[in-house]
Order: sequence, then C-alpha cells, then structure tokens
Amino acid sequence: MLLAAPFWAAFAQNYDESKVPHYTLPDVLKTASGKTIRSEEKWEKLRRPEVLRLFEDHIYGQMPVGYDSIRYALTEDDRPEMDGKAVLKQIGVTVFRNGNSVQINVVLFVPTQAKKPVPVFLLINNRGKDLTDPTRAKKSEFWPAEMVVDSGFAIAAFHVSDLAPDNKDTYMTGVLQKLYPEQLKKDNGMKAIGAWAWGASRVMDYFGTDKDIDSKKVIVVGHSRGGKTSLWAAAQDRRFAACVTNCSGNTGAALARRQFGERISRINTTFPHWFNNNYKKYNDKENALPVDQHMLIALIAPRPVYATNASKDLWADPKGTFLAVKAAEPVYALYGVKPELPKEMPGIDMPVIGPHFGYHNHEGEHNMTAYDWDKFIRFAKQF
Ligand code: GCU
Repeated sequence: MLLAAPFWAAFAQNYDESKVPHYTLPDVLKTASGKTIRSEEKWEKLRRPEVLRLFEDHIYGQMPVGYDSIRYALTEDDRPEMDGKAVLKQIGVTVFRNGNSVQINVVLFVPTQAKKPVPVFLLINNRGKDLTDPTRAKKSEFWPAEMVVDSGFAIAAFHVSDLAPDNKDTYMTGVLQKLYPEQLKKDNGMKAIGAWAWGASRVMDYFGTDKDIDSKKVIVVGHSRGGKTSLWAAAQDRRFAACVTNCSGNTGAALARRQFGERISRINTTFPHWFNNNYKKYNDKENALPVDQHMLIALIAPRPVYATNASKDLWADPKGTFLAVKAAEPVYALYGVKPELPKEMPGIDMPVIGPHFGYHNHEGEHNMTAYDWDKFIRFAKQF
C-alpha cells in the first residue's frame, strides 16, 4: 500500500551540505533579452530596473509611491537622556492618503557631543516593542542604544506593527487597508514585508527634515524577518546609504536554490502574509524563480551591505548567505568596487569588515547582539 507523505514532509529541512542540489544562479548581468551588461551605465539603465521589477512581481510586491501628505510631530518633548550623552526625540510620522492615515512612531537618540548632522542607524524592530524602550528602563543588546551613541552615531527605531501586524489574519489592517487597498487585490501587491519596508522609507523622509541627522548617512538595520525587510528597503530606496541584514535567511540574504534550512514552501506556508501571491508559485520550485537573493544584494550596489549569521542558526543558511553576497560582487565591480570577501566562507567569529561588504558568522544562536553591533559600527565608520 502506498502511504501519502506526511504533511510535514514538504517542510523537512536539509542541514546536510552534501545534499545541497546542483544549481545554477540566474545571471545577474544578463538582461531578459540576453544582453550582457558590462558597464555601470547599462546596469542602471537596463538591467537594474528589470531586476527590481522581478523582485516586486515575484516576491515582495509593488512598492507604492505617492501619498497625499506627510506630517512629522513630536509625540514627546525632546529631552536629555543617558546622563546627558544623548537627546531623545520621539516623532510621530503620519502619512495621509485618500482621507485615511497611518502613524509610524519613531524613537531616536542623537548623541549630544557629536558634530551635527550625525549618521544614524535605523532599526526595523520586528520583536518586542520594549527592545527599543525610549525610557531605557529596559536595555537590550538587540538595540544597544548607549553603545551606538557612545560611538558617535545616532540610533533610531520603529516597530513593524505600526505598518502591518505580523499576523496572517490581520496584516492587512495597517498601511494596506488604510492607504493602499488596491495592493490587496493584486497578485504582485505588497504584503507585510513590503509594508514594513515602505515604513522605513517614510522614516527616511523624516530624516531628510531633521537637521541633527545626516540623511545621506542612514544605515538601515534589520534582524531576521526585519533583515529581509532591510534588504528590500535598501534595494528599492536608494536614499539608504548602507544596509545591515542580520540572520535574514530565506528570502533575505540566503540563496534560495541551495534549499538548505528554511525553504520557500515553508516560509510561504507559515508566513503567507509576508510576500506577494505570486511567490507561492515557487513553493518547491526554487529553480523556476527568475531571481535569486544575490540579485537583491546587487540592487543595493555600490552601497555597503553587511550580512551576518549565527553558527547554530542553520535554518538561515550561513553558507548560502555568504555565497549570495559573494555572487553580488560582479555588480559592485561595475562601480569599480574590488572583491573584499575571501573566496571561501570565513570561519566562525572571523568577521570581514568592509568597506563595501561585511560578513560574519557569529558563534551562537539566531539573534542580534552587542557582538554584531560592534561590527556594524566598525563597518559604518569606514564610509
Ligand atoms: C522564522 C522564519 C524565518 C525568520 C524568523 C525570524 O524562523 O522561518 O524566516 O527569519 O522566523 O524572523 O526570526
């Protein structure tokens, strides 16, 4: 008798390097019409828009442009914090369209001593709101505001729930239903991760108006699902000066075709509200995708990208992450950026830090810690 495969069989993950299938990555430098790109100019004019469109259509969904108005208002008066080392600003960024609005709450610490305008790290917070506690009653390594301020950078954060709840049944109740309901009707319409990235761009709009902040030096940071979002935000909004993607794994910085750790079928089943409807077509069909994640990193070129992993977080495929960054190098080369990463993946706790590429695989579990931030700060100091 033939037994039907158990329901979890489709999700069984591979953690065995020898079982990674043979695969060929889509050529980031070849256009749909078969032209090979050899210059920065042709990349920008022909291939980059094409690749961006492929990611919109097949994975993250359209990024809506335009709204009726935007308002920035302090939700609390600015006040000194951290024994006077920083000024705390709390800003409500309210975006209006067709009579509806959405408010993004931004927490921002600006170092008092630093020369203004200062560069800033912007965290897309996908975890507990208390991790970015403005009162500092609760401190966390996930967003080590004191450490970043002491290094002369400003640090900011917003929470993803202001844009779209991270829940398959309610994700649409934020930006989507309120501002861009038409996105919900399209198979290439954005969902939660698109909405979070859209939110990062609205905070970027705000930075452009804050004289304390150098809006040409905004580094967008995300961990895990937030790291998938930071990549997408930086790919589609070129105002972000650099991107940090921490343990972002599948549909983040890791190559899908390796089918190592989490796979597309699994992410689309557990989190159907993250990516667009079209992406579901690629469940168990990684090789049919017209892109792979190295091309998302390539969209950020020539801006710096730092990707990380944790050694015990095989779910996020450390090797596939390293290889994706590596495979983006040919696009950076068009801008005159020489390869900076070694040919082979560096060992555990052997960070390679910039100037254009950063990578490390930190000993430990899936998380973002002071170890990681210390490297991001060193990375950011180079540009
Ligand atoms: C799950 C999910 C990952 C995601 C992670 C996170 O493990 O499968 O894709 O990166 O959650 O956001 O912490």
